[in-house]
Amino acid sequence: MRSPIPDFLDETLDRFRPDRSGENADYIPDLAAADPEKLAICISTLDGVEYTSGDADHEFSIQSMSKPFIYGLALEQEGLAGVLEKVGVEPSGEKFNELSLDKKSGRPLNPMINAGAMTIHSLLGDPGAGLAERTEIVRAGLSRFAGRELSIDEEVANGEWREAYRNVAIANMLRSYDIFYDDPDEVVRGYIEQCAITVTVKDLAIMAATLAGGGHNPLTGEQVLSPRVNRQVLAVMMTCGMYDAAGDWMTEIGIPAKSGVSGGVFGVMPGQVGIATFSPRLDRHGTSVRGAKIFQDLSDRLSLHIM
Ligand code: DON
Repeated sequence: MRSPIPDFLDETLDRFRPDRSGENADYIPDLAAADPEKLAICISTLDGVEYTSGDADHEFSIQSMSKPFIYGLALEQEGLAGVLEKVGVEPSGEKFNELSLDKKSGRPLNPMINAGAMTIHSLLGDPGAGLAERTEIVRAGLSRFAGRELSIDEEVANGEWREAYRNVAIANMLRSYDIFYDDPDEVVRGYIEQCAITVTVKDLAIMAATLAGGGHNPLTGEQVLSPRVNRQVLAVMMTCGMYDAAGDWMTEIGIPAKSGVSGGVFGVMPGQVGIATFSPRLDRHGTSVRGAKIFQDLSDRLSLHIM
């Protein structure tokens, strides 16, 4: 006999499968060409038991869902005060690819928008660490959250790089404000490599469960983040993770979450579970349409709203 949980997840996906609203991301060739029908969910408990439905082994690029984890790694390396000097913690209320700098200090408002995430990326490793070194720190670091060795899809990265005019412009602005001192092109390229790391919903659910468990990876047993840093990551995710939809998301769904333009969304129920969905068509905020609807449905039916 099957456990009732996979049946519940199958039934949930079946209800949202016919929804074809939204569009694939169009500015990264591999995402534009992705099969829009793919649909998957995984929920991981804090001891690493995973419940899945749909295309749970389908691989896709992590994109902006990398940002909270990289923020955590930078906080561990630099300390809270050091990172706060460079990147704030205030919601921007703007799209993820706006410049959104603090008027007085010139800092990016938060680490979830591209300006903040590229600045956080530039902090990793020793000062002046080159592209290859930082890329490996990021790949190895994200792998510790997933509990397996992740790899980079260079085709995704090359495609994004060819069209990266906006991120290159943002990085040049940051460099001109002395927010970082590295070569802007190198920072953008490294950040794009970070976004091109490949995951499945199973990986994302384990990564989310690591945050849900106070920084403790349920598969490897490693304490990847200290509890204080983990709290900082979750608080910033909760207030800034969904960009200009953060207020709607928290009031209606109430699960700290992060989206990516590949169509993934992961959510963290502190002390309970990590949840991840995948479906490529996006709304105007850059969030998966079916992903958001499934999160809303789970929140309503399982009373997951953290308030
Ligand atoms: O920098 C970009 O535009 C992409 N590599 C990532 C953006 C993203 O995933 C925004 N999230 N919904």
